[in-house]
Amino acid sequence: LVLVIDFGGQYNQLIARRVRECSVYCEIVPYTTTIDEIVSKNPKGIIFTGGPNSVYEDGAPRIDKKIFELNIPILGICYGAQLIAYTLGGKVAGTDIREYGNTEVNFDTSSLVFKGLKEESICWMSHTDQIIELPEGFKITAGSDNCKVAAMENEDKKIYGLQFHPEVKHSQYGFDMIKNFLYNVCGLDGSWSMTSFIEDKVKEIKNIVGDKRVICAISGGVDSSVAAVLVHRAIGKQLTCIFVDHGLLRKNEAEEVYSTFKEKFDMDLIMVDASKRFLGKLSGVKDPESKRKIIGEEFIRVFEEEAGKLLGIEFLVQGTIYPDVVESGTGTSATIKSHHNVGGLPEDLNFKLIEPLRELFKDEVREVGRKLGIPEDIVSRQPFPGPGLAIRVLGEITEEKLHLVRETDFILRDEVKKAGLDKSIWQYFTVLPDIRSVGVMGDERTYSHTIAIRAVESVDGMTSDWYRIPYDVLSKISSRIVNEVKGINRVVYDITSKPPATIEWE
Ligand code: XMP
Repeated sequence: LVLVIDFGGQYNQLIARRVRECSVYCEIVPYTTTIDEIVSKNPKGIIFTGGPNSVYEDGAPRIDKKIFELNIPILGICYGAQLIAYTLGGKVAGTDIREYGNTEVNFDTSSLVFKGLKEESICWMSHTDQIIELPEGFKITAGSDNCKVAAMENEDKKIYGLQFHPEVKHSQYGFDMIKNFLYNVCGLDGSWSMTSFIEDKVKEIKNIVGDKRVICAISGGVDSSVAAVLVHRAIGKQLTCIFVDHGLLRKNEAEEVYSTFKEKFDMDLIMVDASKRFLGKLSGVKDPESKRKIIGEEFIRVFEEEAGKLLGIEFLVQGTIYPDVVESGTGTSATIKSHHNVGGLPEDLNFKLIEPLRELFKDEVREVGRKLGIPEDIVSRQPFPGPGLAIRVLGEITEEKLHLVRETDFILRDEVKKAGLDKSIWQYFTVLPDIRSVGVMGDERTYSHTIAIRAVESVDGMTSDWYRIPYDVLSKISSRIVNEVKGINRVVYDITSKPPATIEWE
């Protein structure tokens, strides 16, 4: 927690916003807050805001001197800086020159607050008073033409003063200075934001939705799960989730979704078993793009049918995250695979959209998920494509082939987890190329399927390198697969990167 002590400045809300943007929780409290109250909040840093007064005037807001003895880092901004100087025995006076607006300031970048920044940059000034004499133990760390003490500090006591306003965007590196203060001086690590995010979003969703009904398609993946649980936290049973089982899921996936969302979170959940319908449509289809299109279209149709059975739905929750927003902005690259809207929903359904994760990156979404109490298995789940196992059974899909992929994938996941590699490998799965080969088992000739193991490291799926799973782990996986999955007599390991290959085989 950082306390922002309010001396009546016009930018106080902005200061709080900037602190939160640094992923640090902060509260604004009035300058009349007592030292005991401040201590009881146990802040890791304190910021004095600006204000309209002159510190030397009677009746100007002051602060108890004891605050400087608490050994809590303090950053004073404008009036706050002057107050520090005044209270600790320095001198503040009115000057003839009023400094207002963009001002060039020179910095001593050996200061922890200006570390890594330029020696000269534009800052936003707005003052008539100035610090003309430093308190004991302080030194000047920035200055401008008309303001000798644009910044001062006592590094030992961790007390810093800035005459300009770092919270205002016009201050070129203002945000970095606030960040430096919070991280370098207060030793904060910026781990708070997701809690605040949840609180803010819950309020926002409640406001937007009112007493209306909301629908959400969940896939069992990270984004839709987190979006659904977040919206559920805001509006409870006004949210109905639909889970379409297209029959192309991994082993136990539908059951896991049910137990998480229905049993753990007590959500209103409709499970639609549409596997026969999907497999019927896919029957005899070999071409990868055709498979994707069929699955994408069918998914939308099933969802629409189910949604149509519910009355008075006004909103649709989508698990859109920031990279999706960025990606869909650039429609210039060639279509390698028609990823998008496969297992997703088009935006022209007749609902208003709620996209609570739009501003977040993947790691932040996971963090929100953890904070919401979603099990780690789901929160740290590897990516899984919308068309599911359909693109891991090469060529025509049959129940039998799906079974082989499902079982081998299950063993692979189990062994990867046992080896403690599940958090290090970005994505790993098995693929059934449509080939058979000769083998020998217990003196018998076999003529069975080959299964391929794919494991990659990646940041965003755009490029990847094949993961070097240790040989002994691979060996265990291989022998378990051929022993436990009837119909497989050969295991191969895919050692291509992307490019030139892609991660999935179709
Ligand atoms: P590729 O195979 O293109 O995959 O290298 C990159 C990442 O995207 C995932 N993927 C999909 N995800 N719908 C999705 O939601 C899809 O149709 C789809 N196709 C591939 C793939 O699993 C990998 O993580």
